[in-house]
Amino acid sequence: MTADPRRTASEQGPLSRRAAEHLWMPFTRYSPYFDGTAEVPVIVRGEGAYVWDEQGRRYLDGLSGLFTVQVGHGRSEIADAMAAQAKELAFFPVWSYAHPTAIELAERLAAEAPGDLDRVFFTSGGGEAVESAWKLAKQYFRLTGRPNKHKVISRSVAYHGTSQGALSITGIPGAKEPFEPLVPSTIRVPNTNIYRAPEHLREDEKSFGRWAADRVAEAIAFEGPDTVAAVFLEPVQNSGGCFAPPPGYLERVREICDAYDVLLVADETITAFGRIGDTFAMKRFGVTPDIITCAKGMTSGYAPMGAMIASQRLFEPFRHGTTMFLHGFTWSGHPVGAAAALANLDIFEREGINQHVRDHEEDFRRTLERLLDLPIVGDVRGAGYFMAVELVQDKTTRETLDDEQAERVLRGYLSSALLENGLYCRADDRGDPVVQLSPPLISDQTQFDEIEQILRTTLTEAGNLL
Ligand SMILES: Cc1ncc(COP(=O)(O)O)c(C=O)c1O
Repeated sequence: MTADPRRTASEQGPLSRRAAEHLWMPFTRYSPYFDGTAEVPVIVRGEGAYVWDEQGRRYLDGLSGLFTVQVGHGRSEIADAMAAQAKELAFFPVWSYAHPTAIELAERLAAEAPGDLDRVFFTSGGGEAVESAWKLAKQYFRLTGRPNKHKVISRSVAYHGTSQGALSITGIPGAKEPFEPLVPSTIRVPNTNIYRAPEHLREDEKSFGRWAADRVAEAIAFEGPDTVAAVFLEPVQNSGGCFAPPPGYLERVREICDAYDVLLVADETITAFGRIGDTFAMKRFGVTPDIITCAKGMTSGYAPMGAMIASQRLFEPFRHGTTMFLHGFTWSGHPVGAAAALANLDIFEREGINQHVRDHEEDFRRTLERLLDLPIVGDVRGAGYFMAVELVQDKTTRETLDDEQAERVLRGYLSSALLENGLYCRADDRGDPVVQLSPPLISDQTQFDEIEQILRTTLTEAGNLL
C-alpha cells in the first residue's frame, strides 16, 4: 500500500510500518517486518551519547550511529554552522573552482595528517575515498612509467565499502559473492586477529605481528612487485572485531611497501577523528602511510563527507602540463559538509576530545574486561573507544558459534535484546561473532558502566540459549 503524502503522519500509521513499505534499508532483512515478528526501530532524536525512538524510549548509542557521532548528538553549534553556510553559499562544486570552507578544511586536514600527506581530495564517504585511492595509485604509477602496477593487497574479513572497486578490496567473501565478477586484481592476506592466530604465535604479539606483516611481502613477491600498486589496511580493523596492530606490525608493513615501491593506504574511515585518541590513528601508531582515506567522524555524522589525503610525492606528477586526476564527485568538498567538519574540528580542539579518549580508553577496556567472567565471552579487544567482545561456545578451546547458533543467538536474540535493554550497538558475524562497541567520544565511566551492565544481562541470557 502506498502512503498518501497528503495525510498527516499520525493518519498514515506508525513510522515503523511506513519504513518497511518504502524505505530500502541497506544490509537489512525485510521478512521479519512483513511477517510481523519485528518492527523497524525508528529513532527520532539524539542528545549527547543517547538517542530516543518514536515511543520516547531512550537508548545509549553504543556505536556512535555508525562509528560517526564523535562529539555526540544534538550539537547546535554544528547545526548553526551548517545553516549559516547554506544561507551564504549552499552549493558550488570544487571542479576547477573553490570556496572558502573547502579550502579551510583541506588546510586543516593537511596540517593534522602525518608526514607530508597534504593533498586533500574530498568525497562524500569512505567507500568513495577508497575508490579514489585505488584510482590515484593506478594513475600515479601510469604517469611515472610503471603502468603494470595496478593490483591491491588487503586483509581478510576487512570491509572497505560497497562500490565495485571498494567491494573488490573488501575481504568478506559473503558480501561479494552476489556481485562477482568484481574488479579483478585484489589479493587477500591475514589480518591481525591474535585471538585466532596460529597457536604457536598466540602468546607472542611481536612474533605474530612479524608473521602477519611478512605475509604482505610474500603476496607482493608472489604476484610480482611490478604488478602491485598498493596495500590497503585499517590501522585497527573493524570487521571481525577490532583487530589492533601488534607491536612492530605497521612498521614492518611500511618497510615492505618501501622495499617493493608499493603504496601503503591507511583506510581510516572509522579510526580517524579521535576514535583511537588522535586525529589519525596512524599518527598515534607512529607510521606514515602514503594515503589516508577517512570519512564518518570528520563531521561527527552531521553531514556526509569523506576524503582521500595523499602525499606530496603522489601529487607531484599532477603539477605538470595537461595532466589531471580524471576522477571526482559532485559532492566533493560540499560547502555545508565542510562547514560541519570545521565546526566539528573546533569542538575537538576546544574540548580536547582526543585527550579525553586517551584519558579514558583504559577505563573503557577495563570495564568491558569484567565481562570475561561470562562463559560466552571469549575475548575483549580493541583500541581507543573502539572495542569488540567476541562470543564463543567454549572458552577453553575458543570454539566459535556454529552457523545455527550464530543465526539463533546473534540474529534471533542478541540484536533485538540489546536494543530492548537500552543499548544500540552491533552484533556482527561477518567474521567470528562479536558485539562491537564504539560510543561517542564524549562518553565516560557512566556510559561504560551502563554498556557493561546491559551487555552482562543480555549476554548471560544469550549464553543460556546456546
Ligand atoms: C574501513 C571502512 N572503509 C570504508 C567504508 C565505507 O564507507 P561508506 O559507507 O562511507 O562508503 C567503511 C564503512 O563502514 C569502513 O568501515
